[in-house]
Amino acid sequence: MKTILYMAITVNGKIAGTNDDTSWTSKEDWDGFRAICRKVGNAVIGRRTYEMVIKEGMQLSDILTVVMTHDPRLLAKHSPDTIFTDKSPKDVIAILKEKGFKEALVCGGGILNSSFLKEGIIDEIYIDIEPLILGRGIPLFADGDFQPRLKLLEVKTLTNRQTVQLHYKVIK
Ligand SMILES: NC(=O)c1ccc[n+]([C@@H]2O[C@H](COP(=O)([O-])OP(=O)(O)OC[C@H]3O[C@@H](n4cnc5c(N)ncnc54)[C@H](OP(=O)(O)O)[C@@H]3O)[C@@H](O)[C@H]2O)c1
Repeated sequence: MKTILYMAITVNGKIAGTNDDTSWTSKEDWDGFRAICRKVGNAVIGRRTYEMVIKEGMQLSDILTVVMTHDPRLLAKHSPDTIFTDKSPKDVIAILKEKGFKEALVCGGGILNSSFLKEGIIDEIYIDIEPLILGRGIPLFADGDFQPRLKLLEVKTLTNRQTVQLHYKVIK
């Protein structure tokens, strides 16, 4: 089972500005995100990101979405294409494996990313660096006790010639 993290960031490592603004992410990042969602077939997100998905009316269609939360109201929800869970990152990956997935896609936000990195579960990271700096905002990884080394697999400039995609393997 391979666990992949895919995120868009600013040059200074923010994934959203204040008020959760992500309007600066490029079409090319979104196209890449949708393509990897289709390939992997699932997306694991944190409760705050789920709230943004609902608020913005974004569609993560034809995939299984796993929302990680401790909120009892969400945990009581039932939906054919969304699992709400308070299980650990390791257990979430085990559930996806049991369901027949070969890969898991972790896609934010910063608190969720951190909890997966801390458990040593992330195998590969894709980062789309957008050409801006945000003085305030939410970091790619919330502070935590981890410092994995990475191996750079590929650097690509996306078709807009402005967004740079870094692809890393996490060394274990
Ligand atoms: N640039 C990008 O590519 C990108 C991608 C995704 C999201 N975003 C942005 O990121 C922002 C949200 O990030 P965030 O760091 O504030 O929040 P987040 O990681 O989306 O959500 C945090 C919440 O998720 C739950 N959670 C996280 N890890 C958990 C774990 N291991 N077990 C159980 N529950 C867990 C907790 O929910 P409870 O409090 O309910 O327990 C936690 O408070 C939004 O603005 C969103 O738009 C940007």
